[in-house]
Amino acid sequence: MQQVGKPVTGKEFIGRGKELALLMEYMKMGQSVVLVAPRRFGKTSLVLEALSRLKKQNYYTAFVDVFTNPTLDLLSKAITEEVLKNHKLHKHFISAKNSATAMVQNIKLKAVLDDFQFIIGFADPSKNQWELLAESIDFVDAFGKKHKTKMICAYDEFGDIKKFDPKGDLVKLFRSKIQQQSNTTYIFSGSYETVMQNMFVSSKAPFYRLARIIHLEYMEKGVLVANLAKKSKELEIKLSAKYIEEIVGLCQCHPYYSQLAFQQLVLFNTLNGRIPDLGELTEYLLSAEKDYLEKVWEDISNNREYVHTLVTIAENGQNIYKRLKPKNINVARATKKLEGMGLLFRDDVKGYYISDPLLQIWIKNNI
Ligand SMILES: Nc1ncnc2c1ncn2[C@@H]1O[C@H](COP(=O)(O)OP(=O)(O)OP(=O)(O)O)[C@@H](O)[C@H]1O
Ligand SMILES: [Mg+2]
Repeated sequence: MQQVGKPVTGKEFIGRGKELALLMEYMKMGQSVVLVAPRRFGKTSLVLEALSRLKKQNYYTAFVDVFTNPTLDLLSKAITEEVLKNHKLHKHFISAKNSATAMVQNIKLKAVLDDFQFIIGFADPSKNQWELLAESIDFVDAFGKKHKTKMICAYDEFGDIKKFDPKGDLVKLFRSKIQQQSNTTYIFSGSYETVMQNMFVSSKAPFYRLARIIHLEYMEKGVLVANLAKKSKELEIKLSAKYIEEIVGLCQCHPYYSQLAFQQLVLFNTLNGRIPDLGELTEYLLSAEKDYLEKVWEDISNNREYVHTLVTIAENGQNIYKRLKPKNINVARATKKLEGMGLLFRDDVKGYYISDPLLQIWIKNNI
C-alpha cells in the first residue's frame, strides 16, 4: 500500500519504540498522559497502536476523536459506542439507538441496558444533552469496573473541545468526572501546544497535575532509512543508500513527509520511467501538499509579526532578534505564539526552525 495520510497501525507502524513503551507503561501504572506534537507527527497512529497492543493484553479501550465529533450529541454517542465496542455491542447500539423499543427488544443490548439505563436516553430527543454526555463520561469508567477490567480511554484532538465550549463548561464537566474515576486511565492528544498547555500544564489549568506530558518529536533517522530501503526493495525500485539518506534529510525525519516522499517517488518513477532527483522530488512534494501549505499560510498571514518572523526563520534561525529589529517586531512574543501553535521549534544549535520542513521550503519559494 502506498496510501499516506491516514493513521497507521500494525505492520505499517514503524519506529516510535521508546514513545510506545513509555506511553504503555504509564497506562499500566494508571497514569494519564497528554500527548503533544505538531500536525502529522504521528500522534493518532501512536495512540491507536498503543490501544491495540493494550487490548491484546486484556485492557478495555476506547478511542474518541473530538475533532470529528464536535457536538455534545455526537460526542456522547461516540464515547458510548467506543465503550460498547469492548463487548462487540456497538453495532447493536448504532442500529437501535433511535428507538427505545428497538433498544429494549435487542437481546444483545439487554444485559448492558439493565446496568446502564441511561443508554436508552439516546432514543429520547427530549433528553438533556449535558446529562447524556455526563453519563457517557461516567460509563467509560463504570463499564470497566462492572467487568473488573481496567479501561484505557483516549481523547484525540482534545484541544478541539474548546471550539464548542466557549465558556469552559464542558472542560469542567470532564474534569469533575475524570477526577473521581478510579478504573480508567486517559490519553489526551492534540497538536495545538498552547491549547494543551492551557488545559494541562500551567497551575491554573483545569487538568493541572492530572496527566504527564509526552512531546512527540521527529522519528529516528535509522528507522526511516531502513523503512524506505525495505519498501523500495519490495517494489523493485533501485535506490542508492545515499539517495535514501538524502530523502530522509530533505524530510528532516518527519514521519508523514518521509512516507509521502516515497509515494511521490514511486509516482514519478511510474510516470517518467526514472527516479527523480531531489529537486524534482521536492517539486512533487510541494505540489502534493499545495492546498495544505496554502491553508497553513492563510491562517497566519493576517498577523504581520508571524509573517515576518516565519519568513526570517525560514532563511535561517540564527540572530533573529537582530535581523527582525528593523521590522519593529516583538520577536519574543511572536516566537512564543508560533511555538504554541506547533509551527516553530527551537534548539541550542540551530536556534529557531520551522517544525514542518516542507512549509519552510514553501515559504522560501513563495513569500
Ligand atoms: N509510526 C509511524 N509509522 C509509519 N508512518 C507514520 C508513523 N507515524 C506517522 N506516520 C505517517 O504520518 C501520517 C500521519 O500520521 P497520524 O495521522 O498518526 O499523525 P497525527 O499527528 O495524528 O496527524 P494530525 O495532526 O493530522 O492528526 C501517517 O499517514 C503516516 O504516513
Ligand atoms: Mg491525528
